[in-house]
Amino acid sequence: MAIALCPLDRLVEGQSLGFDPQGEGSDTVFALRHGGQVRVFRNRCPHLDVPLQYRKDRYLSADGQRIICYAHGAQFLPHTGECIHGPCLGERLQALAHRVEDGWLLLEHA
Ligand code: FES
Repeated sequence: MAIALCPLDRLVEGQSLGFDPQGEGSDTVFALRHGGQVRVFRNRCPHLDVPLQYRKDRYLSADGQRIICYAHGAQFLPHTGECIHGPCLGERLQALAHRVEDGWLLLEHA
């Protein structure tokens, strides 16, 4: 079953949004738009399995070019989730299947 995350147009180029699709009380997934492409990742750093953001909806560097883990500064590529700098170098964020339907971003298999 898919779960609606947000209207697609809420996800602005170069920005990210966090979501709590299971109602766990904290954002467990996040979505971003980079180069026109939407990606959805699990909100867990491969280094220590903790959430990445330093505050609500802030997953990206100031220039929007990298996903940042604020625990120890790991940097990830926004398209693939691959860590290119930091303690989990070469590991990846877990990409989550998603689709767009009727203008909404949906998380698959939620
Ligand atoms: S927990 Fe993310 S870089 Fe250490």
